[in-house]
Amino acid sequence: MSSLQLRNIEKNYGNYHALRGINLDVAPGEFIVMVGPSGCGKSTLLKSIAGLEPITSGTMIINGRDVTRAEPGERGIAMVFQSYALYPHMSVAENMGFGLRMAKRPKPEIDAAVARAAKILRLTDQLDKLPRQLSGGQRQRVAIGRAITRAPEVFLFDEPLSNLDAALRTQMRVELSTLHAELGATMVYVTHDQVEAMTMASRIVVLNQGRIEQVGSPLDLYRNPDNFFVAGFLGAPRMNFFEASVVALEEGWVRVSNPGAGVFSIALRPGARLEVGDTVKVGVRPEAFHLAEEDDGLAASVRLVEHLGRETIVYADATPLLSVGSDTGTSNVTIHLPDIVGLAAGASIRIAFDPDQAYLFGGPDDQTLSPPKASAI
Ligand SMILES: Nc1ncnc2c1ncn2[C@@H]1O[C@H](COP(=O)(O)OP(=O)(O)O)[C@@H](O)[C@H]1O
Ligand SMILES: [Mg+2]
Repeated sequence: MSSLQLRNIEKNYGNYHALRGINLDVAPGEFIVMVGPSGCGKSTLLKSIAGLEPITSGTMIINGRDVTRAEPGERGIAMVFQSYALYPHMSVAENMGFGLRMAKRPKPEIDAAVARAAKILRLTDQLDKLPRQLSGGQRQRVAIGRAITRAPEVFLFDEPLSNLDAALRTQMRVELSTLHAELGATMVYVTHDQVEAMTMASRIVVLNQGRIEQVGSPLDLYRNPDNFFVAGFLGAPRMNFFEASVVALEEGWVRVSNPGAGVFSIALRPGARLEVGDTVKVGVRPEAFHLAEEDDGLAASVRLVEHLGRETIVYADATPLLSVGSDTGTSNVTIHLPDIVGLAAGASIRIAFDPDQAYLFGGPDDQTLSPPKASAI
């Protein structure tokens, strides 16, 4: 049985269509991470699941129970927001037990639930403090503790770590993953942080303009994006995209031409429909580029080098490669090298990629036309 089932969820704010035909089944204990550009409907979807926003149509089922019209308090969910909004005049213990006190639970039960949550969140020594006496990370843990004490069937998190500094975010990310493993609870987590999505999720849901673009495990989405949008959205630095035109088609292959890369062949997935003269997009991940010998690859000029310690990111101009969407005809390429490279701005380099590592997108919805790539693990 699913923990959470969303069936054809539609949501309008007046005549703005915020959620479009959302269908999703979440298995018990899954950690679902929702990502998507700002304004794509992530918070709207979470608030709809929580019952804080009425949906326009569709059905929601939590643990087999239809909760479409249920009040927030009757849904068996708890939600943690970005602004953790603790009650400033209440102690940590009082904040964490608030939901249970509102539900008029007996005091021994509340005390036990608070003690258990505090132990899990390492807040046992902080229970008598006021929120202003805590660090940002501790306050966010109290907010999570307030959710845990209610023993919900599903936890909803809306960008809970985005107000924390980078070091604390990394620490909390690990803590939340551990917490998920300990509680075995179902979690739906919204973030715009690539690393959080890739590392925490059992499955990632990519939203765009109120629709689900793709659902899958992090590595599967990374290796096998269904379309241009998902390919460009997952991965930092972003995938490089070039325009190319189809010059020939053979069984299972297409030959494309690009002013910088010349003419080369890319494999086609069965059923992909293209015609000679079509414009397609070629995608190459930054790590799929390598530095080439003098008489190989294509020429590029280094604009900026980021030395990250063990690896190097090179931003180069590879005109006339022709980036997708470039109205100036120039081409900015990002290259991720797995080692330290003695390059500086202004250097002339040659770069190349293996066409097997490239992606092809085309057709009316910019679907992926290259064959699925074998998963790394
Ligand atoms: N209460 C509201 N009334 C009208 N429009 C809203 C309301 N809340 C959100 N929206 C609109 O719905 C869209 C999705 O918003 P939201 O779910 O907050 O996006 P996200 O969390 O992905 O950034 C946005 O265009 C936003 O302006
Ligand atoms: Mg939001």
